[in-house]
Amino acid sequence: MRNHRIVIIPGDNIGPELMEAAIDVLEAAQKGGGDFKINMETHQAGAAYYTEYGIPISPETVEACRSADSVLKGPVGDPAVRTPDGIEAGLLGGVLRSGLDLFANVRPIKLYPGVTSPLRGFEPGGIDYVVVRENTEGLYASRGKGVGGPNAMADTMIMTRPGVERIVRFAFELAQIREGAPSDGVSRVTCVEKSNVLRSFVFFRDIFLEIAKEYPAIEAETIYPDAAAQALVMNPGHYDVMVMENFLGDILSDLGGGTIGGLGMCPGGNIGDDYAYFEPVHGSAPDIAGQGTANPMSQILSAAMMLHHIGEVAASRRIEATVWKVLENGDIHFDERGRAVQGTKRVTEAIINRLGDS
Ligand code: NAI
Ligand code: MG
Repeated sequence: MRNHRIVIIPGDNIGPELMEAAIDVLEAAQKGGGDFKINMETHQAGAAYYTEYGIPISPETVEACRSADSVLKGPVGDPAVRTPDGIEAGLLGGVLRSGLDLFANVRPIKLYPGVTSPLRGFEPGGIDYVVVRENTEGLYASRGKGVGGPNAMADTMIMTRPGVERIVRFAFELAQIREGAPSDGVSRVTCVEKSNVLRSFVFFRDIFLEIAKEYPAIEAETIYPDAAAQALVMNPGHYDVMVMENFLGDILSDLGGGTIGGLGMCPGGNIGDDYAYFEPVHGSAPDIAGQGTANPMSQILSAAMMLHHIGEVAASRRIEATVWKVLENGDIHFDERGRAVQGTKRVTEAIINRLGDS
């Protein structure tokens, strides 16, 4: 029996609703045949935690994230909870992503059957790419360090050679184990960069083109982010793996989510050499908190990514295949805003019931 110690951070607003769903699915997945056991320990962190304790996460929880085999995190944050300088107080990116040096933010964008995509004419699987977002530098390296006064403010974007090299290599390594772009089957890494305007992006692009030479079997191309925003709506089937700076990745991955039934379909991983944690792409959705309509797929698929990362590949694939089957069968429905028509709990039940069958 393989034992895994997992830290659970439920988060704020819809976070706990989604986490309940993911925990139920993880428990069903271990019952259904895996010879592994997940020992979960729950830690509170985020905006509500900040309101109570004046910090978004305790040092003990950060230490638990380091010592655990992996971490499953719900969305955190509340726009109403801010530090005196005006930015949100309940976010954990600075502590966990930079603090644990989780340089790769991996965000799969995949069109499942039965979801309401605003794009016409795409088969399930016809959109299937991964945004690999640099997670420790770029514009967000300036997190909390902006300088200025009442009449001007500046946040600085930083690219370092080791930082760009490792994220670009990560993207090519990922492309090597994927099956290529849906439209033509070509294994491709697309670098999104604004080298027509900013020198930092010239630097990023040059390193990308240099490393691309080490992977001759994979097509390498570059695109500007403004053009990429159009291409991800008009021609998303062309993309396989996309690599980009932190801020660009934040924005374009939400755009991708909008094409596949909403952010509730978007899982993510924050991965470094030593640690990792898994969480949905989206935030804590205060607008639908407590209504029981949030789509839990993002959290359930994040749990599946986590299982894959800790070596439980069969269980991970089983969850993903079950999500596909449940959606394909039309057991559950989402409205045009991506909310679960029959409720979050019904989505979870449908998955658990089918996991039992598979
Ligand atoms: P959001 O991603 O929470 O919500 C954007 C829209 O998507 C909303 O209309 C929401 O209802 C919808 N949505 C999100 N997840 C959904 C789901 N699972 N099912 C159905 N609909 C869903 O973005 P917003 O409103 O800008 O941010 C809310 C809070 O989340 C803020 O405090 C923000 O800072 C924080 N945030 C936290 C993140 C994290 O913990 N990793 C990531 C992004 C934002
Ligand atoms: Mg974001």
